[in-house]
Amino acid sequence: MTREEYLPNLDQKRLGVWIIGALGDVATTSMVGAAAIARGLRGTTGLVSELEEIRKLPLTPLSGFVFGGHDVRTGNPWETALRLENELRCFGMPLLEQIQDSLEEIAPRIRPGIIQGASGLMQSMLSHDVASRQESVEQAVERVRKDLRDFAEQEDLESIVVIHLTSTEPSRPWNPSFDSLSQLRQAISSNDQTIPASVLYAFAAFEESASFVNFTPSLGSSIPALQELAKEKAVCHAGKDGKTGETLVRTMLAPMFVARNLHVLSWSGFNVLGNRDGKILSDPSANDAKTSGKDAVLRSILGSHIDDSLTRIDYVPSLKDWKTAWDLIHFEGFLGTKMTLQFTWQGADSALAAPLILDLARLVQAGRDAGRVGMLSELACFFKDPMGWNENSFPVQVAKFEEFARELGTELAAKAGPQ
Ligand SMILES: NC(=O)c1ccc[n+]([C@@H]2O[C@H](COP(=O)([O-])OP(=O)(O)OC[C@H]3O[C@@H](n4cnc5c(N)ncnc54)[C@H](O)[C@@H]3O)[C@@H](O)[C@H]2O)c1
Repeated sequence: MTREEYLPNLDQKRLGVWIIGALGDVATTSMVGAAAIARGLRGTTGLVSELEEIRKLPLTPLSGFVFGGHDVRTGNPWETALRLENELRCFGMPLLEQIQDSLEEIAPRIRPGIIQGASGLMQSMLSHDVASRQESVEQAVERVRKDLRDFAEQEDLESIVVIHLTSTEPSRPWNPSFDSLSQLRQAISSNDQTIPASVLYAFAAFEESASFVNFTPSLGSSIPALQELAKEKAVCHAGKDGKTGETLVRTMLAPMFVARNLHVLSWSGFNVLGNRDGKILSDPSANDAKTSGKDAVLRSILGSHIDDSLTRIDYVPSLKDWKTAWDLIHFEGFLGTKMTLQFTWQGADSALAAPLILDLARLVQAGRDAGRVGMLSELACFFKDPMGWNENSFPVQVAKFEEFARELGTELAAKAGPQ
């Protein structure tokens, strides 16, 4: 069945895509990409949801995406797009001018966010409106919920997918209220300021029956309390931390060492980047949250086939959004022969991440349309630290994703009934 056969009026389908961190580089590149593709100005390279087998599903067309979101700085998507263009020459001015109206339309739908648990560096970048707000945790959650309700009402949306794309939060000790929904509710009402914003955003999203995707390493919806709420509200969620560059290559290569019974003596990875994400990651606590995740992925695939690993991320402002990763793998083969493999990855961070944002919004919504509830662990191939399935090998994850897409196809066709 083709996607048009499932839903004859598919072209009219609309989806609210509410981005937390809406003024960021990845968020803006996603908005530029959606508008450019919807108007036929650019092709769909990089979008997994446009692969032949996946595009058979009745996914929302990009022309049906309605963007809005929260941020804690001042600005608007048009300004961010111009800055990205000046720094990277990634879009081309003629393209930006043709979609300027789409970007300007989004600006009024970007609301002031909440900042619990932000790093010291992030606190120094806040807009006056956000920095001067005096509100309890409960009031902050209520405000986020109201923004989502207003968005749905004003744009006449049946469904919203909330995408978490804020700066990485510093890692913190486990808060016991994360263990159950009743404890989390209690902690929110007793104004526990240690609950990070990513958790509060996910809580608010679920309370408003919106799905949630966490593209960052922050906690978001991963905690047991929110897994409980997602099931109670029958919504879907997926995460965490998008797999776009160095880790994508690592999780493709690491299974090869296991399959050939080669022993990795040390795997060292050095990353340098110069965008705001890089600046935030220069804060040691946020840096630790990111690098420990990257190391854990290697160990989970290689198990006893690896001795040592090291991952560093450093901020080099002149590089802007061009992230360079250099990995040096020192390994041992037959009869103890020592060898090395090196790779260098130079990627435009936002151009790698943005198509996955559009894919995830479409796929999580398709999961929901099919009646799925809770964590969509089948989307593990999109994430560095997949929720609900401790499998990091990219080929294994992709096989599971393809199976998931086939199953969704059958489920959605059954729901659509005989044509
Ligand atoms: N390839 C990639 O670019 C990639 C891959 C995996 C994960 N990520 C993650 O995606 C996130 C976004 O990356 P980016 O390059 O767009 O970063 P960015 O710094 O350009 O954007 C982050 C945005 O979040 C906003 N923000 C910070 N705290 C907030 C809060 N509490 N509420 C609302 N908004 C808040 C910031 O003001 C900023 O506009 C980062 O956490 C990054 O680690 C990116």
